[in-house]
Amino acid sequence: MHTLTEGRGLLFGGDYNPEQWPEHVWAEDAELMRAAGVNLVTVGVFSWARIEPEPDARDFAWLDKVLDLMAANGIGVDLATPTASPPPWLGHRWPQTLPVDESGHRLWYGSRNQFCPSSPIYRERALALVTDLADRYASHPALALWHVGNEYGQICHCDESAAAFRTWLQARYGDLATLNEAWGTTFWSQRYSDWAEIVTPRRAPYLHNPAQLLDWRRFCSDALLDHFRAERDVLRERTPGTPVTTNFMGLFKPVDSWAWAREEDVVSNDWYPDPGDPLSPARTALTHDLMRGLAGGRPWLLMEQATGAVNWRPHNLPKPPGLLRLESLQALARGADGLCYFQWRASRFGAERFHSAMVPHAGADTRLHAEVRAHGRELRRLASVAGTPVPARVAMVFGWESWWALEERGLPSDRIDAVDQLLSYYVPFWERGVAVDVVPPGADLSAYALVVVPNLFLVADEDAAALTAYARGGGVLVVGPFSGVVDPRAQIRTGRFPAPLREVLGAAGEEWRPAPDGPVRCRWSGGSEFSARTWTELVAAEGAETVAEFADGDLAGRPAVLRHAFGDGSAWYVATMPDESALAALAGRVLADAGVEGVLPGLPAGVEAVRRGDVLFLLNHGAATVRVPVPGPADDLLTGSPTEGHVTLTPRAVAAVRPRVHAEPGDHHA
Ligand code: GLA
Repeated sequence: MHTLTEGRGLLFGGDYNPEQWPEHVWAEDAELMRAAGVNLVTVGVFSWARIEPEPDARDFAWLDKVLDLMAANGIGVDLATPTASPPPWLGHRWPQTLPVDESGHRLWYGSRNQFCPSSPIYRERALALVTDLADRYASHPALALWHVGNEYGQICHCDESAAAFRTWLQARYGDLATLNEAWGTTFWSQRYSDWAEIVTPRRAPYLHNPAQLLDWRRFCSDALLDHFRAERDVLRERTPGTPVTTNFMGLFKPVDSWAWAREEDVVSNDWYPDPGDPLSPARTALTHDLMRGLAGGRPWLLMEQATGAVNWRPHNLPKPPGLLRLESLQALARGADGLCYFQWRASRFGAERFHSAMVPHAGADTRLHAEVRAHGRELRRLASVAGTPVPARVAMVFGWESWWALEERGLPSDRIDAVDQLLSYYVPFWERGVAVDVVPPGADLSAYALVVVPNLFLVADEDAAALTAYARGGGVLVVGPFSGVVDPRAQIRTGRFPAPLREVLGAAGEEWRPAPDGPVRCRWSGGSEFSARTWTELVAAEGAETVAEFADGDLAGRPAVLRHAFGDGSAWYVATMPDESALAALAGRVLADAGVEGVLPGLPAGVEAVRRGDVLFLLNHGAATVRVPVPGPADDLLTGSPTEGHVTLTPRAVAAVRPRVHAEPGDHHA
């Protein structure tokens, strides 16, 4: 990110698709961009057919002009490899490049994303184009960043994919006997006698083999990553100094973002909070924290957000005035150094003609564009935030493999959702202004006073050992239900559960018991009651104290929440799904155990507080005007005014509070 923000400051802009407009509009675009403080545009994402109108032809003339225009206006270009949407000629001439669904149906062109990740012809054609693109623009002054493809997530069940899957499995297992054992193929007579028999998990009469499904998910993510790497390597070879990214989609299931993030220079994300969902602010904060985690704590880039309504939900609420700014500043507060939109100018035609943009159909003289312009300009006041970290003492563990394994069919319940579980544990920390890092299983936990594992259904031995060592060494560990259940082959870890975490948790379970609809009554050891739902477990304490018990039914008097003093630290196990207020109470207790506090005591409801570098961001997501006490002499960078002990935030208002550093006598640099 540093190479991007140095000399440019915070990045502001969006996807720019000038190929949809006549050239005379481009000049107006550039003028409006300058007036709005735009300094980065993503160009070319969907321009394969424009650049290569027929096989092997090249038309770069229009793109030359666009890049020259941007350079002349001091606007950097995030140049996309246009490989997300191949032209119709590719699928027409080479239908084997088109993806096939699990029922064996080919998906056709006429939309986008229609390629098979394992197709050699697609790969060859894509790389030839990327090579020419990189050769042509390697030394163009506008080139700031490479944007590979778009929102990777394609899945294909064709014969070429099946062959690639087999090759991947051969590398993983070596021989067929090992695969048969790992997949447990003695079950239902699934034993393979020849590699050639193995196919992708195509539509079958009944439940699939869970180990096959898990390996399939791993393979699909890896196959796409392999393609990403191939494009990236072409770019890196030609422009070693230009960073490479590809845009994630938050907690998006098909790609293991931990593995992907390691392969890119800058982490970027596309994020579209639903204005109609009351959980959007918290879900968004969590997603931003995940991006910071993926970036290893370094700044990341919000590549796409909407200025107003999207057009892909069934009913698309617009953003009320001020929400565009609030959401953008939320990303900045949580570690983004760039705030970009989809897209610059609203399309007149195509499937997204009703999607909002920075310049709406009604033109630049509009409420919406005025907000865009004001926001772009005010970012200059926050330039010093670029590059600064968001310090956190709490970590939450989330892993894609466990998510994949948890959300297969044939489990005790389909009502444990890995992302909902993560969000429900995250919310009370977010409400208190406690910063959280999202980290992968196996991460270095030494910097954290508290580690929360809302669910880790699949856990590797070494990752369970790392959690155990963390608590033994003085950390506070919290583990949610149905964790430590299977190994990386999706095979049950036998014995009392959670087998690999039994020692650290001081608890041992013998039955998972999904609950009937309705509340499950529980009681804290102090006597007050709370509700849980959906899930219970028959667990006994094995050294842990019972902090809460089930109050009714077969499990009455049995532990629901346990705390184990372990080594120099402690470990909590939550054997049910407590409601919001109980999770908030639990968060309070484990934070006290860990000695961690929020950035600002007494935060009014609805106000998000997060510190980035030396700036305290206060964001009012609530419907009321609130007064937030802010200690010490400080200034609000957004208004340029002193805070005088407090800030008043109307709904959707934001303050960026920087403590004033007093000059010491003799200090000439005040
Ligand atoms: C995604 C894509 C864009 C566009 C937007 C619409 O983020 O990357 O091309 O389709 O969604 O919201």
